Amino acid sequence: MSGARDSRPADQGLTTFEITRGTQVVSSVLVGEGLLHRGTVADVVVPTEIAPGRVAVLAQPGSHALAESVAEHLDARVRILPDRDAAKKLAVVEDVYLWLNDLGFTRGDLIVAVGGGALTDVAGFIAATYLRGVPVVLVPTTLLSAVDAAIGGKTGVNVGGKNLAGVFRHPARVVVDTDVLAALPEVLVREGAAEAVKAGFIGDPALVDLYEAHGLAAPVSEVVTRAIAVKARIVSEDFTERGVRAHLNYGHTVGHAVEVAAGISHGHAVAVGMVAAGAVSERRLGFGDAVRQTALLRQLGLPTEASNLDAAHIRALMALDKKRDASGLRMTLLHAVGAPVVVAVDDADVRTALRAVRIE
Ligand code: GLY
Repeated sequence: MSGARDSRPADQGLTTFEITRGTQVVSSVLVGEGLLHRGTVADVVVPTEIAPGRVAVLAQPGSHALAESVAEHLDARVRILPDRDAAKKLAVVEDVYLWLNDLGFTRGDLIVAVGGGALTDVAGFIAATYLRGVPVVLVPTTLLSAVDAAIGGKTGVNVGGKNLAGVFRHPARVVVDTDVLAALPEVLVREGAAEAVKAGFIGDPALVDLYEAHGLAAPVSEVVTRAIAVKARIVSEDFTERGVRAHLNYGHTVGHAVEVAAGISHGHAVAVGMVAAGAVSERRLGFGDAVRQTALLRQLGLPTEASNLDAAHIRALMALDKKRDASGLRMTLLHAVGAPVVVAVDDADVRTALRAVRIE
C-alpha cells in the first residue's frame, strides 16, 4: 500500500517524511530547527544517492542571503530569479536553461531552489525539463511553500492562466528549516496559515484546533509537520491528481479566480475560496462548521470576502480553471472537518459560493 512514512528521531528534533509511490520512496521531506546550520549543509541538502559535479542554486530576491550561504557550502553558482509570479514565465525558464548551458550542466548535476512557492514551482519545472530532467532539492523559505507548494511535485509556469503549463515531478528532497520560517514577518505567516488551515480542514482536525487555540502564534514546527503529514499522505496515494489529490484544491476553485481577478496573494485568495467552498459544503452536504471556518480565518486576519469583483468575470475564470473536467465544474467540499469529497457543482452551487464571499 502506498503512503507517506514519517519517522521522528526525537533526539535530533528531525522529522523525515518519505513520499512513496506504490512501495517505492520517491522523495523525502526533512523538517527540523536550524537544519541549514547543523552538521554540514551538504549532508542536509544533497541526498546520498546524488553526487553532483556542479550545483546551481536558484533563488528569489528575498532569499539571496540564505541562497548564498547554502551555495558557499556546496561550491555552487547562484542565480536570482524575479520575485513571486514574475519568475513563473517561459522567458525566465529560457534564461535559466541558457545559464545552465553556460555552466556546462549535466544530468548528474543538481539544482537547489531556495525561495517561496513561485520560485520552487518554476525551479521544479526547469529541473523537470532541462536535459529531460535533472535532480532538484527544494528549500522553501515561506510557510506557504513549506506546507504546500514545495511538497508533492507540482511544477509550473503561468501561460495565460495560473500554472497552465507544468509537469508532475517530485523533488529529490525538500529541506524545511523551521528557524527560517520562525523568522518570517507576520504577513507571510498569515499567508501560509491559509494553506495550513486548509490542510487541517481537509485532513487534520487537530491542526484546526491548534490554530483556534493559538492564532498566528501557533508553534511553527507543529503546524508544518502536521500540514506536511496531510499533504505527504495524499500525494503518496495519488501523485497525478486522478483521485484524492483533488482534496488539496479545497478553496482553490473560487480562490484561483479571485486571485487572478483581484490581484491578491494566493493565501488570501484561498481563504476567500474556503469560505465559498464552506458555504457550498453546507448547502450540499450539511457541513456544520462553515461558520467556525469563517471565524477562524477572520481570527487569523485573513479575508473572508471579495467584494467589488464582477461575478461574470469570476465565473469565466472558474470555467478556465484546469480542474474543470469534461463533465463540468467540480469542487472539493467537506462533509465534516477531515472528510473531503469532490462534487460536480451546478449553477445554484456557484451562486451560493459567490454570494457567500459577496461576489454578486
Ligand atoms: N497545491 C495543491 C497540490 O499540490 O495538489
